[in-house]
Amino acid sequence: MTDHNVTLHTEGNDASFPLIEGSVGPDVIDIRKLYAETGKFTYDPGFTSTASCQSAITFIDGDEGILLHRGYPIDQLAEQSTFMEVAYLLLHGDLPNRAELDDFTTTITRHTMVHEQLATFFRGFRRDAHPMAIMCGVVGALSSFYHDSTDITDPQQRLIASHRLIAKMPTIAAMAHKYSIGQPFLYPDNSLSYTGNFLRMTFGVPAEPYVVNPIIEKAMRRIFILHADHEQNASTSTVRLASSSGANPFACIAAGIACLWGPAHGGANEAALNMLREIGDVKNIPAYIARAKDKDDPFRLMGFGHRVYKNFDPRAKVMKATADEVLKELGKSDPVLDVAKELEHIALNDSYFIDKKLYPNVDFYSGVILNAIGFPTEMFTALFALARTVGWVAQWNEMIADPEQKIGRPRQLYVGATRRDYVPVDQR
Ligand code: SDX
Repeated sequence: MTDHNVTLHTEGNDASFPLIEGSVGPDVIDIRKLYAETGKFTYDPGFTSTASCQSAITFIDGDEGILLHRGYPIDQLAEQSTFMEVAYLLLHGDLPNRAELDDFTTTITRHTMVHEQLATFFRGFRRDAHPMAIMCGVVGALSSFYHDSTDITDPQQRLIASHRLIAKMPTIAAMAHKYSIGQPFLYPDNSLSYTGNFLRMTFGVPAEPYVVNPIIEKAMRRIFILHADHEQNASTSTVRLASSSGANPFACIAAGIACLWGPAHGGANEAALNMLREIGDVKNIPAYIARAKDKDDPFRLMGFGHRVYKNFDPRAKVMKATADEVLKELGKSDPVLDVAKELEHIALNDSYFIDKKLYPNVDFYSGVILNAIGFPTEMFTALFALARTVGWVAQWNEMIADPEQKIGRPRQLYVGATRRDYVPVDQR
């Protein structure tokens, strides 16, 4: 809280509202009493100027292109940390010491198996079901298996549910992929790292041993870290809103998965690679740039632009460097990467993108890497959901522990018909 107020002058009524400052970033105007004192609502479709909560997990400065997780810069975490360590940091607020990290990793490892009955849920889907459709259904179904961790008022149950969700998402995502290609599910292997275990469950087969490629393991670990959390984005806000009614954690995370699926959000990684493939050659880029600028054309450059970043998305920078590294280390080349780099160069020198401050975001280069590793395009958003579960769970825990939080129930500006009487059908 500051000792400053903001005063709103309306017809003959001045109302003052407290200004609250955080540790860094914009102050907020506490308008909780606005309607009571003025009889008016704020109007902010898309929540472009609205803070929905207080949070200590992730800070973004969109103008400077800064992303901090509990104060640690994303590029340092991506380069030096592990996904288990980042998961602990997001959940508990500080980097773990060696004993805390080992204990946390062992706990997560021991929760990676899913109930054997859960495997039958997959049989109900067509083989060509989108992995995100499967993830929505199967993760929501987890609430029918784990009744001992759905009481959100019990901190111990919240912790177990958090561990189960973080641990089981790789298993479920890998099962979704295996089901789509008609191969048998692989059980987790507790001797492997979180990322290595996921790679084995996804690409291994029962008929022969699977050796984790350290290059790919390092790239996937970095990709998971880059996707772990991102402040109050659409899917995190969905998880918070679902949780505000007291819904169980598995249902709330399933709601987050559903929201993430959209092409304006997590679905952009799949859409971006499809777009780059459709462009196909650098000579076709100008036509697509023209389409992106054409108000009458709904086409947008997928993987470009961001609600918050009006500078480079720091994650996109790391992703771009990783794409070069992975292709080089795997001895692969991909003309799509050349198209992506030329598209970025052309767009960032075009006044339309410069004026609107549109830069590549986390989704622009990720597909190139995931494709090089061998994931089908349809799996890209499922991988995003796998990694973002850590952030969703951390935000979910923070929200439940926040004494200021209550059920989310926005109001509206009503523009429909005013009161009128019913007219029987034969008189209309
Ligand atoms: C993610 O919120 C998060 O943090 C999300 C995320 C996370 O980690 O959780 O970072 C992950 O979702 C990244 C974004 C992935 N989506 C895409 O790449 C899809 C393409 N980008 C957009 O559709 C768009 O940029 C959004 C959805 C990302 C942001 O949209 P906004 O903030 O609502 O901005 P807007 O749609 O109002 O656009 C502002 C202007 C518009 O032009 P005008 O109406 O002002 O003339 O910029 C234009 C838009 O037409 N514009 C684009 C564009 N993005 C915005 N024009 C062409 N191509 C684009 N990609």
